[in-house]
Amino acid sequence: MFRSDSVPVTLVFAAERLNYLVEVRNKDDPSEFPERNLKLVKGIYGAALVWRGLLQSLLPDWNMCMFCVAFPAWEWALVSCLIYWRLDQKPIGRYFVTDTILITGGAGFIGRYVARACLERGHKVRVLDSLIEQVHGDRTQTEGLDPDVEVVVGDVRDEAALLRALKGATKVIHLAAEVGVGQSMYAVDRYVSVNDYGTAVLFQQLIDNPVKRVLVASSMSIYGEGLYQDAGGRIYEDVIRKPRISADEPWDPLDDQGRPLVPVPTPEWKKPALASVYALSKYVQERLTLTLCPAYGMEGVALRLWNAYGPGQALSNPYTGVLAIFASRLHNGQPPMIFEDGQQRRDFVHVEDVAQAFVLALDHEKAPGGVYNVGSGQDRTVSEVAELLSQAMNRPMTPEIAGKARIGDIRHCIADIGKIQQELGYKPRKNFAEGLAELADWVAKQEAKDLVNEARKELEARGLVA
Ligand code: UD1
Repeated sequence: MFRSDSVPVTLVFAAERLNYLVEVRNKDDPSEFPERNLKLVKGIYGAALVWRGLLQSLLPDWNMCMFCVAFPAWEWALVSCLIYWRLDQKPIGRYFVTDTILITGGAGFIGRYVARACLERGHKVRVLDSLIEQVHGDRTQTEGLDPDVEVVVGDVRDEAALLRALKGATKVIHLAAEVGVGQSMYAVDRYVSVNDYGTAVLFQQLIDNPVKRVLVASSMSIYGEGLYQDAGGRIYEDVIRKPRISADEPWDPLDDQGRPLVPVPTPEWKKPALASVYALSKYVQERLTLTLCPAYGMEGVALRLWNAYGPGQALSNPYTGVLAIFASRLHNGQPPMIFEDGQQRRDFVHVEDVAQAFVLALDHEKAPGGVYNVGSGQDRTVSEVAELLSQAMNRPMTPEIAGKARIGDIRHCIADIGKIQQELGYKPRKNFAEGLAELADWVAKQEAKDLVNEARKELEARGLVA
């Protein structure tokens, strides 16, 4: 197998690998071991293999070449190449754990995808989740989580549970939150408590047990109305939606001359305009993260998510995202119920792309201190998605148009994803038709309680639909 002259170098290389493994395993904080070193070793080794191949083919008597003497025989080179290639593959990647990630709210829809993506990057993952009934039904076990994820069942506001979950964690992804915009307008204490007090408790523990980086799931809802432009191309940054006084009034915001404004992609620099308790609570989460992290030597990053969708959404939660609600309605033979006139625009981003954004922000050196929009870069109306989903589910159904708006909802907000693309290399991969087909396949195998009418009545009884 070995050429005798190659033995010393092979030994050195093997020792280097061993040294790397020992160093990674023995470090208190393995994330401090620079991943760059591994990349460097791999790079140099890869380049050397290429040189060896070149010289071997160019020089008639390659045994005489000093480079060749320095490298092992071809069989070993082949094995090394295979090892080198396998280092990037999932199962072996998992032995090179670089970080222990705590994901709060990690058993939820987005959390499960983020957990999987982190495992695929070779991280160890722990989840803290209270498995609330509105999302998880009467299940007491986590469903759909990768078996390699360690689970701590507990509330983010519970210090003891949090401390257990934080043990040994080197990075935190904070997803634990109540997420319904409409519901936040009446369950105020619950939303403020879980979202803001929960984040405060998390940071109170992080002050004594700091981690390297904290990622927080913020929301596009903090922008309020997105950016608009008028017919002359003038940009409007501070549009505020006023309640309609009569049914003849247009739904779209108007310019000074009464012409409808057109939504344009909203970048991160747009000032927040907090239109719901949910938006307010998300902004507090974001600011707590970006204020406290640098004060305690941690790196904070906020991702402002647009409307995430995909298999695994909580179908029986009537306050979940619109696509899951529509899917549940159609599955139960009911038409989608559309607020306003259905022409409101959003950016629907597949949950795998959301997970991609999180793992990029988790490791990227440019991310600390940043806020990033996460969307697909394409916008659609609510009516259009209702139509496309009913086609994908093969349940043709004319939607019911409510002609009323939920208080706290914004009219349009669409994503400018240029910053995350340029700085972190984010690339939305899932095409919408493909994503909907996947969602439809998944929904067909589920049971979903349709509680939308009850939820609407609850909002109407409080005057929150007008
Ligand atoms: C959603 C998320 C929020 C997240 C934000 C950005 C939920 C409940 N809300 O807010 O957590 O931070 O995206 O990612 O997941 N609609 C209907 N019929 C329905 C339900 C909704 O027409 O049955 C309409 C709404 O009035 C709104 C649009 O669909 O105009 C989107 O609503 P929703 O899915 O609740 O999303 P956002 O409010 O945009």
